[in-house]
Amino acid sequence: MLVDTTGLIAGLFSLVPILITSFGVLLELKDTIFSNTSQKLTNDGYDFVVVGGGSAGCVVAARLSENPKHRVLLLEAGGNPNPFAAVPLTTPFLQNHPATDWQYTTAPFSDSSGVSMKWPRGRGLGGSSTTNFMMYMRGNPLDFDQWANITGDFKWSYNNVEHYFKKMEDYHGIYKNNLGKHGRNGPLRIEPVIYAPGLDYVLEAVKEAGYTFSPLEYTQKRGRRYSTYSAYIKPNLDRPNLEILRYSHVTKIHFNHNLKANGVSFVRRGGTSYVTTKREVIICAGTINSAQLLMLSGIGPLEHLKSVGINPLVNLPVGRNLQDHVSTIIGPFMLNKPVSFMPPRDVTLISIGEFVLNGSGPLSSPLGTIGIGVTSSSSSPEWPNLLHIFASLGIYEGLGATLDQIFGTENYYTNLFSTFIEQDAHLVNLSLGKPRSTGFIELKDGNPLSKPIIYPQYYSDPGNQDIQDMIEGYQMLVNLYENTNSLGKKL
Ligand SMILES: *[C@@H]1O[C@H](CO)[C@@H](O)[C@H](O)[C@H]1NC(C)=O
Ligand SMILES: *[C@@H]1O[C@H](CO)[C@@H](O)[C@H](O)[C@H]1NC(C)=O
Ligand SMILES: *[C@@H]1O[C@H](CO)[C@@H](O)[C@H](O)[C@H]1NC(C)=O
Ligand SMILES: *[C@@H]1O[C@H](CO)[C@@H](O)[C@H](O)[C@H]1NC(C)=O
Repeated sequence: MLVDTTGLIAGLFSLVPILITSFGVLLELKDTIFSNTSQKLTNDGYDFVVVGGGSAGCVVAARLSENPKHRVLLLEAGGNPNPFAAVPLTTPFLQNHPATDWQYTTAPFSDSSGVSMKWPRGRGLGGSSTTNFMMYMRGNPLDFDQWANITGDFKWSYNNVEHYFKKMEDYHGIYKNNLGKHGRNGPLRIEPVIYAPGLDYVLEAVKEAGYTFSPLEYTQKRGRRYSTYSAYIKPNLDRPNLEILRYSHVTKIHFNHNLKANGVSFVRRGGTSYVTTKREVIICAGTINSAQLLMLSGIGPLEHLKSVGINPLVNLPVGRNLQDHVSTIIGPFMLNKPVSFMPPRDVTLISIGEFVLNGSGPLSSPLGTIGIGVTSSSSSPEWPNLLHIFASLGIYEGLGATLDQIFGTENYYTNLFSTFIEQDAHLVNLSLGKPRSTGFIELKDGNPLSKPIIYPQYYSDPGNQDIQDMIEGYQMLVNLYENTNSLGKKL
């Protein structure tokens, strides 16, 4: 018997945000019932207090607690990863969701436009590695070498960090026959994209245009998301010397008279607690919250701290030199063949079964992302500065609203897509790898629970090179989709 399940699947999808909320409530309730703070926080014992259990904090806490002599406390503002995070297709629903995200919005880009942007940041163990698009990319060796030059510390050089990449990796990606360059015994599982409609056309077209791009690789295990929580914390939850306190939002770092950090305050279940450390406080709170916490603790630009009533301890440019890979979605490039992922058509009861039983199919896909590559604009011939992420994603009712939700663009994508509903398409996320523009982060006030103010200052570089570079990337992509045999002529 054939049953039309389109309506059923769409119905299930519209439930996802509500289910994420419900799981969030249940996770917090479970924590309230089963973990008790008071007995645990013996103020004498910790060697290390790690602030933030996100992409970095999970790794730091796990590596430090490998030594049984170290007593490690990990403080995380959110809870365990939401169960939906395991299903890559739900990624867009996790971003900006109150149960899984800090829900940051930037300051308006200019006084007149009022336009601002959302900056999704994962909240909970695993941090943004629990809510992102899972793409695995090491980065350009030149960048590491440049950091070594700037810091005067060779340890940042690519030759030195490569060892740690290998040590981290459990690599099953597309270059798995080149294991000299990759590791197989580390905790972080990496797999190639499994569900990738239209990928071959893109790779061929790019080749015609003279570049080499590659299929995406994800931090994924048998199709399920593999965050730094999955890789580093979950296997080590029973270590007696690693304590994790969830729903604990650190509000201040304390220092002794020599300005050595010796403890932190944090808010948990409405009450403020204090914990000391014998050795170190390690701040792993991410770009935004790390800067915020340092400033709240008196480390930051002197005048700014005074202006929000914080007693300055050290005058440093914390929150300055903010750089973001500004990105824009190019497309939709309409296709005349059904070679893109069209959720209402392609997500079926069978594909749900395929994911559950075999870890493959459209549910293993973070919204149709398939391939990735870098190119150089004419201003940076030796050092690729444009990043292209290809999404093979047909336009369907609701996609516009989803993108508007991620980006905070009101009805922009909803309107843009409204005349293309049910047509196959590709979209490309074009972003600037080495932006010249810099912004800054400041405190709104002295209240540690206020959100800081983010000023990205995109495209503000004096020579306007950033926007010029983006235009070149845009032209390259249009050429790809209009003029190559594999894409423009064929599809
Ligand atoms: C909570 O504290 C009590 C008393 O110290 C202890 O017996 C119990 O095992 C603790 N529960 C958990 C889950 O840590
Ligand atoms: C780093 O410094 C060395 C020596 O000055 C120079 O040769 C090299 O090009 C620099 N590398 C980068 C990536 O900046
Ligand atoms: C199971 O998953 C693998 C990749 O992980 C894929 O190659 C294979 O086609 C899948 N099998 C089915 C029946 O979907
Ligand atoms: C586009 O790519 C940038 C990274 O270059 C990323 O920060 C941004 O979240 C991406 N947007 C989407 C919708 O994937």
